Amino acid sequence: MATPLEHLTDPDLTFDADFPLGLTFDDVLLVPRRSAIRSRGDVSTATQLTPRIRLAIPIVSANMDTVTESAMAIALARAGGLGIIHRFNLPERQAAEVAKVKRAESYVVESPYSIAPTASAAQARRLMRQWDTGGLIVVEEGLLVGILTARDLLFEDDPNVVVRAVMTPRDKLITAPPDTTIEAAQAILHRHKIEKLPLLDEGDRLVGVITSKDIQKRQQFPLATKDSKGRLRVGAAVGVRPGYLDRAELLIKAGADCLVVDIAHGHSDNAIDAVRQLRRHFGADVDLIGGNVASAEGVEDLAEAGADAVKVGVGPGSICITRIVTGFGVPQLSAILECAAASRRLGVPIIADGGVRASGDLVKALAAGAQTVMIGSLLAGTTESPGMTVMRRGRKYKVSRGMASLAANISRQGVEPGDKAPEEVDWQAVVAEGVEAVVPYRGDVGEVLGQMVGGLRSGLSYAGAMTIDELQTQARFVRITQAGVKESGPHDVELT
Ligand code: XMP
Repeated sequence: MATPLEHLTDPDLTFDADFPLGLTFDDVLLVPRRSAIRSRGDVSTATQLTPRIRLAIPIVSANMDTVTESAMAIALARAGGLGIIHRFNLPERQAAEVAKVKRAESYVVESPYSIAPTASAAQARRLMRQWDTGGLIVVEEGLLVGILTARDLLFEDDPNVVVRAVMTPRDKLITAPPDTTIEAAQAILHRHKIEKLPLLDEGDRLVGVITSKDIQKRQQFPLATKDSKGRLRVGAAVGVRPGYLDRAELLIKAGADCLVVDIAHGHSDNAIDAVRQLRRHFGADVDLIGGNVASAEGVEDLAEAGADAVKVGVGPGSICITRIVTGFGVPQLSAILECAAASRRLGVPIIADGGVRASGDLVKALAAGAQTVMIGSLLAGTTESPGMTVMRRGRKYKVSRGMASLAANISRQGVEPGDKAPEEVDWQAVVAEGVEAVVPYRGDVGEVLGQMVGGLRSGLSYAGAMTIDELQTQARFVRITQAGVKESGPHDVELT
């Protein structure tokens, strides 16, 4: 019979210390290549998030509770990227955030905010506030009977006056048939100086509304990531604990364009089973992203389970301490390079998640084979993030916290079925794998994205690449020393 320590003499357990070297962004630079590009404006930053979802810019905002709710997702989609709504609240709240993004704009508003003609002015005001809209369609038994705008209520002192008495009635409204094109609608709205154009079928039933606001948005954000109905695209995260299928169901009903199965160790049976279950449940119509992994086998197993794209990154994030706590992780550039080889073989795009601090890191991640990059803390500092704003020594900061930090654990207690009450949890026993931090306030997300995409355009031109695909084939990395890192930043000057 084997003695307890017999395995210590097993020669197969001897490690060969010739480990591969793991590299990250600061360990490398890209060698400039001959370039025929005359202007940064000539290159394309378009890419695939999944085989079906195309983005004009390769940036996805992280599903963290200090990064992505509806405001961030709307801003990202308008800029040509995509936001993933975090899962650290009740499923209904998360679904409501998805719905807000889907309602933010569209070619035709199919279910416009509406009210009955018998409702009171006070009710109308309340609904306008609740839905954050300046106009309601007045409908009775599916038929359009008028439009009520905030202006109609402006000087109305009587809160009990009925909507019918103050609205613009049907006979004064300009309407159009359901097949009206956006261009024709624009001309009608312009000619009559109106803001909403109801579309009515032959039975005078309301089938939708085209608004001047939506048309303006189309012109203002030409790169926006949109679905076939002209609505902004948005993703949403789910976990793997019981209840994730119900949550996923709500998210898809609310209009989510993709689901992210997001757990720290995505190369686990839990994550693989969840991807498989979701694929089985929703069929081929739902785009699924799995993660996070840091090896080719991780990409292969999630792809085999049905993932359309895979998130890569174990421990590179600004607020992560997984590597310190567990000893596991792969420096992000090496992780991307290894996963990209599998990604190309399988035709499953990878999303490089974590550790991007500046546009140079974005360029390196894409050059190494990622199709898109997920960003957390850099976006947590913007106006659109849901994180709290704090003042420190007279300067403005916003909170960014790891989703495996103690504070995040405490505040999400109760959002999954079967969660214990906070007072029943032994918080001392929680092993946090993330930290709570603050990041400098950086202004609107549009400014940050402008800098990132500008840097990427310059990067493409240094590579002589018109597209991200060309960047990947043209890329020649060089490993650098600490002296090279020092030389790469400002040095031997006093910064003002
Ligand atoms: P950045 O560097 O962009 O990274 O802020 C964002 C990514 O970090 C991951 N993340 C965590 N990783 N513990 C971890 O080990 C955590 O508590 C944690 N919270 C977020 C996540 O992949 C995110 O997109």
